[in-house]
Amino acid sequence: MKRVRVAPAASFDMEIKSIAPDKSISHRSAMFSLLSDRPSTIRNYLKAEDTLHTLHIVQELGATIKKEGGTLTITPPSSLKEPEDILDCGNSGTSMRLFCGLLAGIDGFFVLTGDKYLRSRPMARVAVPLRSIGAKIDGRERGNKAPLAIRGNASLEAFEYDSPIASAQVKSALILAALRAKGASKYSEPKRSRDHTERMLQGMGAKLQTKANDDRYAVFVEPLREPLEPLDIKIPADPSSAFFFAVAAAIVPGSRVVLKNLTLNPTRIEAYKVLQKMGAQVEFVQKEDRYEPIGDIIVSYGKLHGVEVYQNIPWLIDELPALSIAMAVAKGKSVVRNAKELRVKESDRIACVVENLKRCAIQARELEDGYEIKGGELHPAHIDSCGDHRIAMSFLIAGLVCGMEVEDTQCIETSFPNFLELLSQISEVRLGD
Ligand code: S3P
Repeated sequence: MKRVRVAPAASFDMEIKSIAPDKSISHRSAMFSLLSDRPSTIRNYLKAEDTLHTLHIVQELGATIKKEGGTLTITPPSSLKEPEDILDCGNSGTSMRLFCGLLAGIDGFFVLTGDKYLRSRPMARVAVPLRSIGAKIDGRERGNKAPLAIRGNASLEAFEYDSPIASAQVKSALILAALRAKGASKYSEPKRSRDHTERMLQGMGAKLQTKANDDRYAVFVEPLREPLEPLDIKIPADPSSAFFFAVAAAIVPGSRVVLKNLTLNPTRIEAYKVLQKMGAQVEFVQKEDRYEPIGDIIVSYGKLHGVEVYQNIPWLIDELPALSIAMAVAKGKSVVRNAKELRVKESDRIACVVENLKRCAIQARELEDGYEIKGGELHPAHIDSCGDHRIAMSFLIAGLVCGMEVEDTQCIETSFPNFLELLSQISEVRLGD
């Protein structure tokens, strides 16, 4: 599956129960099962390339995994095994950065690598603070790029680290290292990033406290004295994946979508609030609360107008490419700022969004830390996904307005394997070479 064509859609009204399970929570549930001494039960684990890589690594580290229907039972080893071979994280920054933190405090030798996109992403953001507490991590470009070699150190120093960026991956790596440190540690970031790690570890009994004030968010971590409680979790649907269909409903006149069983964690649904601010109708219906609030989001078409997005960026960073499609059809100008992190995602998403919008005859301009988009009429175009799943899916959704051809769509498998199947329920989808 390389090139995909999508035809313009008529109005639609659908309920989607099969949005891909949450990627961030899936990765964490597999990794955190290694912190217990009893089997964890995980229902609805995401079966996409990224999270299957993580599962495989967990196995390489000595866990046994039983699959029965939609349930995984992960039994951790009594102590983590030194793997015989390199550990392949595929396309996943979450997998590589969190494993750096988890393995930094384990006695053994580990090599983490990934595909060409992951091997070009910055790892110093975890390697530097981990090295400063005694971990031995090296790699290309003085330890900034994978492959990364880790010589684990079972006596990491306790630390206080004030991160210059709000990143859940950096935070989680440091929290995982802090669990193996010699004393209590404190991690802080400029703004609370997605907090699944804190919620899940607290749910497993870790001694971890959080504190937010006006200018920073801090996490205080006590080292593990004994193994944690096992996880017993059903992974909710991924709001970042669901957001493609939220945008679809918001831009195709007369449409409505009910997105079922998503995590409604406030650090994950900010993009829906922006869509609401732009003029779409959005309703949140919470149904349960275990580790995370969970419920449905209903989105209906509305006449969209331009918006400025410069706050709470970590809470919608993954949705910005899809949001750019809503901005492209909105009346007036939209601006995204404070989002420099977009440059080091699976692609340079600032350059890639702007270039592809221009191909669709939309006026767009790169800023150092975001972009400006002048809403207009989308035209069918030939899109380069830049090997990035979120770019590929965003422009296929744009195609629901005017038709579109997107090149290099294999990457969709990293996070949302049934995306095209769902898209084909809205409009005609054709696969090419
Ligand atoms: C993720 C955190 C975010 C996000 C990524 C998944 C996670 O990255 O963009 O897709 O699961 O922790 P950063 O933490 O680097 O901002």
